[in-house]
Amino acid sequence: MTDRVYIFDTTLRDGEQSPGCSMTTPEKLRMARKLVELGVDILEAGFPIASEGDFEAVDAVSREYPWAQVAALARCCTLDVERAAKALTHARRPRIHTFIATSEIHLKHKLKKTRQQVLDDAVAAVELARRHVDDVEFSAEDGARTDPDFLETVSRAVVAAGARTVNIPDTVGYSIPSEYGALIGRIAKTLGDCAIVSVHCHDDLGLAVANSLAAVQAGARQVECTINGIGERAGNCSLEEIVMILKTRGDSFPYHTGVNTEHLYSASELLSSIITFGPQPNKAIVGRNAFAHEAGIHQDGYLKEKSTYEIIDPRSVGVPEGKLVLGKHSGRHAINQRAKDLGYELSREELDDLYHRFIGVADHRKKGLMDEEIVALIRQGREEALRVAAD
Ligand code: KIV
Ligand code: ZN
Repeated sequence: MTDRVYIFDTTLRDGEQSPGCSMTTPEKLRMARKLVELGVDILEAGFPIASEGDFEAVDAVSREYPWAQVAALARCCTLDVERAAKALTHARRPRIHTFIATSEIHLKHKLKKTRQQVLDDAVAAVELARRHVDDVEFSAEDGARTDPDFLETVSRAVVAAGARTVNIPDTVGYSIPSEYGALIGRIAKTLGDCAIVSVHCHDDLGLAVANSLAAVQAGARQVECTINGIGERAGNCSLEEIVMILKTRGDSFPYHTGVNTEHLYSASELLSSIITFGPQPNKAIVGRNAFAHEAGIHQDGYLKEKSTYEIIDPRSVGVPEGKLVLGKHSGRHAINQRAKDLGYELSREELDDLYHRFIGVADHRKKGLMDEEIVALIRQGREEALRVAAD
């Protein structure tokens, strides 16, 4: 039996607060439905004190999906915690997620507080949250840049105050896997079975997924992430990537999640249709090209045996079939296969003719050829052959 890693989705909170990603309450509800179907463990629906819209969204998600574990964000202060608790009134499994920065940089320049004041605020907020709900998560903002001794002190204190989950964010995406893994290992050892250690990584150096993975190996059992990796600045750890790494590389990572991976692609598509941008074409797992093979040698190998060039069955993430993009790098084998799929059995001469026509067009294109265009080329070739025969 492998260890369970809990997936905390923050698409509707951290994701939504980034440029181009604002969502209305009805849009959040549509997305929440998909996230529930996907099987995420915790769904962070908003930051109720931040706006009326955020309050309304947390309330609406709690009413619509009462059995989902819904989280609401709150700074470590009375007003925020009370507001989060109110927004969660209708949730049957509410979680208050309260946070305060713990790094020296944040204490000195942003909060202008001493370590003792931050520690007191953290403990007081967790105690207050526990008066409203059983499930309280504490986040040490900028945890990755916090003095590990102080981080340990804060972590122990908030657990003693009633927090069940302690999250150590790499808020600015500065950490690297070896360093982050060591820090998480230390906190996990300190807390033992008293709380779940969670991670929340930003992608400023492109390491959010790698850092989250290192943290899981070091003892973290909750990963905070978003669909398509959206989030502040360069985004958060991508949900689809972390989930598929754990699933695909079970040989190296003996952990499992509760995610129904066949909904990953549709979750990504739905999000793209709601916000103002989609994932880049070469994005792992959900990008348009993630399962497309264009190079002739790749297409040839793939057509003989998929596993030569495909490590994930596209159907396992909800992509209908591995799409072969036919472009100027395509070989005869792939073109012949596509013609067959389109209902055309070609003679050797016809295939040679089609291949030359195809390359003639594809050479001037950045994108591949559509199926209708291939059919048109086949017909063109056959008509010309008939004309030559008639002359
Ligand atoms: O990046 C961060 O530190 C956060 C916290 C509020 C969890 O988003
Ligand atoms: Zn964040």
